[in-house]
Amino acid sequence: MYHKKMKPFPKDFLWGASTSAYQVEGANLEDGKGPSCQDVKKVPEGTSELNVCADQYHRYKEDIKLMAEMGFKVYRFSISWSRILPEGTGAVNPLGIQYYNNVIDECLKYGIEPLVTMFHFDMPAALDKRGSWGNRESVDWFVNFAKVMFENFGDRVKYWLTINEQNMLTLVGPVIGTLMLPENCENPLKEIYQQNHHMLLAQAKAMVLCHEMLPGAKIGPAPNISLVYPASCKPEDTTAAQNFNAIRNWLYLDMAVFGRYNNLVWSYLEENDACPEILPGDEEIMKSAHPDFIGFNYYNTVTVEASKSTEGSAASLEDQQKASEIAGVYKGFRNPNLLTTEFGWEIDPQGFRNTIREMYSRYHLPMIVTENGLGAYDTLTEDGKVHDPYRIEYLRQHISVMQEAITDGCEMMGYCPWSAIDLVSTHEGIRKRYGFIYVDRDEFDLKTLDRYRKDSFYWYKKVIATNGEDLTD
Ligand code: BG6
Repeated sequence: MYHKKMKPFPKDFLWGASTSAYQVEGANLEDGKGPSCQDVKKVPEGTSELNVCADQYHRYKEDIKLMAEMGFKVYRFSISWSRILPEGTGAVNPLGIQYYNNVIDECLKYGIEPLVTMFHFDMPAALDKRGSWGNRESVDWFVNFAKVMFENFGDRVKYWLTINEQNMLTLVGPVIGTLMLPENCENPLKEIYQQNHHMLLAQAKAMVLCHEMLPGAKIGPAPNISLVYPASCKPEDTTAAQNFNAIRNWLYLDMAVFGRYNNLVWSYLEENDACPEILPGDEEIMKSAHPDFIGFNYYNTVTVEASKSTEGSAASLEDQQKASEIAGVYKGFRNPNLLTTEFGWEIDPQGFRNTIREMYSRYHLPMIVTENGLGAYDTLTEDGKVHDPYRIEYLRQHISVMQEAITDGCEMMGYCPWSAIDLVSTHEGIRKRYGFIYVDRDEFDLKTLDRYRKDSFYWYKKVIATNGEDLTD
């Protein structure tokens, strides 16, 4: 649909950007923080350790000041579970509480709304040893962590996100360094979906607790949603796209919003003897939770064709944004209509609109974009500049179609691209940069860690100042 006249962005639209604790903070074992799964994993060859990252732990004041200069209305960051509870349960680390109090207060000083992700890929290592999400007690561990956060920060934090990209934790855990499978696991698929079930329960209970403890606050999930296209108009390709849409996207939102398992996913799990064990009372718990909004990360769409294989491959994705194959269910297909980033991710701004429209027609809840952005190699010039027209172009196109989606009638609350500042990627190091703020360091040479404003910094500042009306350079 072509709109002759666009609706403006809502007056109180939340413009900002995102980070996550384990990718931006550094200080990974300082001031009482316990290790998380990210601190004990073997990082991919050629990529940085996660002990310093962007050093935000020591430089949050400078970083938040720069965000304020860009005009941020919101800053999405995550709270490191093992900084608050070094063992995952038990004693609270007062210096951890102090740190996040400082970050929240610093945001509020500039009128920036904190949007807190409760869990972003960083299970405390101590809980990994106890079976991680595979242990049903993980539900209580998470709810306890949520309670500690609500008690300490709930007087100032009005927006909460539960679990970042639970779908990616389930589908590509090893790529992002999180999957914990017991030794000699006989049915890994069943184990993974059991973990997934526990996360769903934990999320539901945390949403209910949030509403009980903080009546004025809003809470929602934060999956990674990529609409899945069929590779052709062959009917079987559409069936494959429906299959993967269900496995990749709708399972998570159907559960968060309606409290029920998606029937296509359930049938796929049944076929593979991989249905999770559901205890009496679980369904009631799922149904009792009602998110106030949907947060979602969008990088691109995915295209699939019918899979002709009858056995073999069970890997659903190569990484977060590249589909592979599940025999008989779907097979990834390179969309010839789309360009790719330097790191091989397809770029599909129109797909952003398609994804938003589809989500709104399914769930009818307000939405906030919790990630969207371009990972690229950036260069700091001798005079301290970073010229990143490619990033500006990517963001401009996505913001522009987001306005079309708003004009389509979809309710959008805000936009938080990835990332506010350069940080370490999940598996491709710090050389894959996303930020508006450049951090002076290389993969292994920490250099000065000084901050520089990229060209996109000035551009985004103008976008925010005009509430999305001026997207020109
Ligand atoms: C999302 C994650 O999958 O994508 C972030 O929530 C991540 O943690 C971002 O950094 C970009 O992915 P990558 O792999 O390029 O770091």
